Amino acid sequence: MAEVVLSHVMKSYGSLYAVNDVSFTVEHGEFVALVGPSGCGKTTTLNLIAGLIPMSGGDIAIGDRIVNDLDPKDRDIAMVFQNYALYPNKTVYKNLAFPLQMRKLPAAEIDLKVRKAAEVLDMVHLLERKPRELSGGQQQRVALGRALVRDPAVFLMDEPLSNLDAKLRVQMRSELKRFHHNLNATVVYVTHDQLEAVTMADKMAVMNGGVLQQYDSPANVFANPVNTFVASFIGSPAMSLIPLEAAGNALISPEGWELPLSAMNARKAAASTTNKVILGARHSTLTLHKAPSPGSVPGKVYTVEPTGDVTFAQIFINGALVNISLDPTVALAPDEHVWVEFDQERLHLFDAETTMALAAS
Ligand SMILES: Nc1ncnc2c1ncn2[C@@H]1O[C@H](COP(=O)(O)OP(=O)(O)OP(=O)(O)O)[C@@H](O)[C@H]1O
Ligand SMILES: [Mg+2]
Repeated sequence: MAEVVLSHVMKSYGSLYAVNDVSFTVEHGEFVALVGPSGCGKTTTLNLIAGLIPMSGGDIAIGDRIVNDLDPKDRDIAMVFQNYALYPNKTVYKNLAFPLQMRKLPAAEIDLKVRKAAEVLDMVHLLERKPRELSGGQQQRVALGRALVRDPAVFLMDEPLSNLDAKLRVQMRSELKRFHHNLNATVVYVTHDQLEAVTMADKMAVMNGGVLQQYDSPANVFANPVNTFVASFIGSPAMSLIPLEAAGNALISPEGWELPLSAMNARKAAASTTNKVILGARHSTLTLHKAPSPGSVPGKVYTVEPTGDVTFAQIFINGALVNISLDPTVALAPDEHVWVEFDQERLHLFDAETTMALAAS
């Protein structure tokens, strides 16, 4: 196992920068998720680490070697793709053994590795079956097993769960987590599903437009998003963002109301480049009132979505749709007038010009 270091990695296709000056370090044994919307450069970044495509600039190190000019087969990596093509006519055992036979390992050593991988992935009882006799999740485990027997320094995975149905995906998510835990493997894992990233990864690299936005633990990314993109991409339902104007110790709305700010938040708002700021709040930090109340602002109910344990409502506030979670016993109707209270300790303020989180100066 080994660390992976990306330094100022670039990949351009003509005038398009698919990966633009990306730097981060995956520590030995860490599970890192590359996450971001479609086309943001996740697969390209993974393929650059794997050596499947040439870089336009920068350096990649795996372990203590710069691998820029090494072939994929010499990089000591194993890839698991979204489409895991298993050999349909070979048993699970032979599917696992095949890459090792290709490398001309002794039969006894192959047998040992295959049985160890089957144990780690809990599929000893499946070894004599053919792929068509397996469920989707079991086939996925065979694909993982094939990477595992190679005993690589680093596992690279590109959306390996995206072909599975929702239930299986959740199950495989925890199995992958166990797999990582048991092996203490270094894993770089691509997903566009922020929930998958948040639940599985030690760290996440949030990308947008080829640029790395934030690299940190899921908890820190969630608590302190660096800009409005990260704020709205991580978390479900998304953080609500309301454009307002800063004026002294308050935020004011063209609708005529104002929200008084704590001293700390007033200092943050004062640090914005213009007086335009964006107020951010997660659904769970908001309190709903049916009458005006201190620290609250007026809104109008748009939709109400009961989910059983919790009810989500969307409220129009100053032209923005704001998500709020409510106790399911709260009765609420579309178009009802309500007041939403913000928690001064847990609201976020962003600079509307730069989209960056504001810090108190
Ligand atoms: N061979 C190529 N030639 C030209 N442009 C490419 C090539 N490969 C990728 N791109 C472009 O580079 C950008 C990043 O692509 P990439 O496949 O890395 O995205 P992604 O984040 O993996 O997206 P998805 O979630 O849809 O898989 C996209 O704009 C894509 O169109
Ligand atoms: Mg991709």
